[in-house]
Amino acid sequence: MTSVDLGIPQVPTAWRSRTLPAERPAGPGLVDRYGRIATDLRVSLTDRCNLRCTYCMPAEGLPALPRDAVMARAEITRLVGVATRDLGVRQVRFTGGEPLLRGDLVDVVRDVAALEPRPEISLTTNAVGLDTRAEALRDAGLDRVNVSLDTLDPDTFATLARRPFLERTLAGIDAAARVFDLVKINAVLVRGVNLDHAADLLSWCLERGFELRFIEQMPLDADHSWDRSAMVTAAEVRGLLGRRFALAPDDEPRDGAPAERFEVRSLATGQRWGRVGIIASVTEPFCADCRRTRLTAEGGVRDCLFAHTETDLLGPLRAGATDAQLADLWRTAMWGKGAGHGMDDPSFTQPDRTMSAIGG
Ligand code: 5AD
Ligand code: SF4
Repeated sequence: MTSVDLGIPQVPTAWRSRTLPAERPAGPGLVDRYGRIATDLRVSLTDRCNLRCTYCMPAEGLPALPRDAVMARAEITRLVGVATRDLGVRQVRFTGGEPLLRGDLVDVVRDVAALEPRPEISLTTNAVGLDTRAEALRDAGLDRVNVSLDTLDPDTFATLARRPFLERTLAGIDAAARVFDLVKINAVLVRGVNLDHAADLLSWCLERGFELRFIEQMPLDADHSWDRSAMVTAAEVRGLLGRRFALAPDDEPRDGAPAERFEVRSLATGQRWGRVGIIASVTEPFCADCRRTRLTAEGGVRDCLFAHTETDLLGPLRAGATDAQLADLWRTAMWGKGAGHGMDDPSFTQPDRTMSAIGG
């Protein structure tokens, strides 16, 4: 697949005609030419994963990066320190691959929690193995977790993740619920596989006080089999959930958050049961409000999930660059951020890296 046509604008039309500033202002933040300021950093800690979700990894896995190509603990802390101290980053989310596969994850969290100013720290995980580490992670300074869970049916889980690990994921979620105030669950719906499980998954999350977010499937799979006409859209999810629950737009300001949130109530009594989020990255893109900057496991800055280029920071760091030099490279990288992911442009091409290699 090389091109898709969504026909949906993902940036305000005003941007198209606007004269963009040619030069980066001298200020401290991670600004781009469209006036967005990135304050939210995603750090991929590893490209490896113990699942093989069909929308992310190929069945046989991907060739693992050599160990010394991946950022070491001290290098992560150094770069996150530059981001928080010199570049105005306030939130740090660790992702992967699967971040729990790093033996030093608790130490990485502890190091980052000791930074001044201390960022808010969260983790996106598949929760396999979280049962034995949730408490240590909380004690080290982890504030929140998001767990990926697409279905509660063991066979469907094994089909989607290509590994029979539902029980282990649920054990991880139980542990997370015991130690963290808020657990968010991420689900990707795939037609013909788990679409019919969406309402049950929401019931299950509501009963436990978890906030479920459905994420539209993005063209970030290794097999390049993403198909716009087959993907489950946010509108479809709203319609589907609406048959079993009353959904009303949440009053809280969205504030740059990717999920559009809804209050969930009983259709029969109107009793409030909780919330659900829908992340419509494809059909209702939020690029205009994007506050993200990303570091790959190899220490490269990506200004967008769909970027085709990266700016290496790990090479310069290892070659002796100062914090000021690293900050400047990072600012220059973000200054070049495009207006949007361009999925609606006929020239759109899927990035070579999969979600597991970028960090979600
Ligand atoms: N489209 C949408 N979401 C994806 N994820 C992984 N690959 C994709 C994709 N192609 C999700 C995972 C995880 C989060 C980091 O991103 O399910 O919850
Ligand atoms: Fe692993 Fe997450 Fe990709 Fe699934 S989506 S294969 S859990 S990195």
